[in-house]
Amino acid sequence: MTRRSLLLSQQEINQGVARLAAEIARDYRGKNPLLIGVLKGSFIFLSDLVRRLDFPLEVEFLQLSSYGSGTQSSGRVRVLGRLGQPVKGREVVVVEDIVDTGITIAFLMDYLHRRHPRSLKLCALLDKPERRQVPVKIDYLGFTVPDRFVVGYGLDYNEQFRHLPEVWALEEE
Ligand code: IMP
Repeated sequence: MTRRSLLLSQQEINQGVARLAAEIARDYRGKNPLLIGVLKGSFIFLSDLVRRLDFPLEVEFLQLSSYGSGTQSSGRVRVLGRLGQPVKGREVVVVEDIVDTGITIAFLMDYLHRRHPRSLKLCALLDKPERRQVPVKIDYLGFTVPDRFVVGYGLDYNEQFRHLPEVWALEEE
């Protein structure tokens, strides 16, 4: 499963990230938001996003386990490690690479909600709505993608392809 086709070019991604940054700046300037990146998939997206935000903010990361390996979700989610600071009273924006079944992010939003942030929003680069199993509200969305397994720009297949600067769809062989 290594043949792939281009879904989003670097230019398209740049434009999408710039649009998301403008939306987040409009809503969070002066509020010192806490952006929480979901590892590992959001590491490139979050890095590009925050460099477009020209006001005070803070960054944390959380790692979740959902997909062991391959392309199918196990349906079980765990939070690995913990945040470096409390979310209580904070304006929190979760930054995720892709919302697929929604199981992972629904779990994380609930996990954070129970810690009483002042506000809690979700920013996702990609949405694969055809596969949704649980409802998820995406407040800031980059792109909707078809029901294909995608890699690149942080997203992996068995830990490969994260470094590609574009988003590609893997072809079944
Ligand atoms: P969900 O729980 O099914 O929504 O899956 C969410 C997580 O699975 C994402 O944060 C990704 O890490 C991973 N994932 C889902 N779909 C893809 C894909 O097409 N490519 C790479 N990773 C994916």
